[in-house]
Amino acid sequence: MNAPQTQSTMPTEARTPGEVLLDIAHLNKSFGGLRVTNDVSLQLRAGIVTTLVGPNGAGKTTLFNQITGHLKPESGEVRWQGQSVLGRSPWQIARLGIARTFQDLRLFDHMSVEDNVTTVMEPAAWLWQGGGKAAKAERRARTAQILARVGLTARAKERAIDLSYAERKFLSMARVLASDARIWLLDEPASGLDRGSYERFLGLLRDSVASGITVCIIEHNLDIVVGISDRIAFLDQGKLLAEGDPKTILSDPKLAAIYFGEQTA
Ligand SMILES: Nc1ncnc2c1ncn2[C@@H]1O[C@H](COP(=O)(O)OP(=O)(O)OP(=O)(O)O)[C@@H](O)[C@H]1O
Ligand SMILES: [Mg+2]
Repeated sequence: MNAPQTQSTMPTEARTPGEVLLDIAHLNKSFGGLRVTNDVSLQLRAGIVTTLVGPNGAGKTTLFNQITGHLKPESGEVRWQGQSVLGRSPWQIARLGIARTFQDLRLFDHMSVEDNVTTVMEPAAWLWQGGGKAAKAERRARTAQILARVGLTARAKERAIDLSYAERKFLSMARVLASDARIWLLDEPASGLDRGSYERFLGLLRDSVASGITVCIIEHNLDIVVGISDRIAFLDQGKLLAEGDPKTILSDPKLAAIYFGEQTA
């Protein structure tokens, strides 16, 4: 693959992969006659950013959906820290410490920005804090901190549906920040962002990874891919064609032909 024309302003520092957090083994899924996940095995390691790259329809989102319990694979295994998560509901999987964003965001459109964030914390409060006044105040304070981090303080009382596209993207990141998850699965969180917004997004991502968050991100913009990835996994037609360090994957002419062939089709 040809290297992107412009480098991100924030190059990736070397990060050392830790233990395997998510272990995806021989996963298979079809829709009708279409094989969308074809014997995919991939390990996501602690402390690093793994980027899923591939043409439209390659099966990237479908892979996330099988990890998070939104879709059931036909065969294969998904283990979180050694324990199978298959058969668990999305909320149970989220509780294990696996947060995600959606390509179509899935916000609570008619709720306020702050309530979109606070509701992420509420299940934990019910269990551990009894949902009392002090717990509620604490959640509000944390929400305010998170909204400040993503630049949405001034929009806290607005309805999610009234935000701009970029603001809605940052709100979905705020919800992930509020989750206390150990790993984030991000489905094209930077797509459609203007330059300023995506630099802000990259800063947020880098700070989060530096603080110990593990990330798996689906991204099409190769500038962003280069700017953030420690590992790249390349999917095409449901198959994992290659997995490795960014330099190796991005300089592979066969992968470039597949990627750019589809992009310009
Ligand atoms: N619920 C579904 N029912 C039938 N087919 C589906 C369903 N979800 C996805 N597909 C098909 O499965 C294939 C993989 O889709 P998927 O959304 O995982 O691709 P993707 O790699 O995320 O693509 P993109 O980059 O466009 O988001 C596509 O051909 C898509 O049309
Ligand atoms: Mg997708």
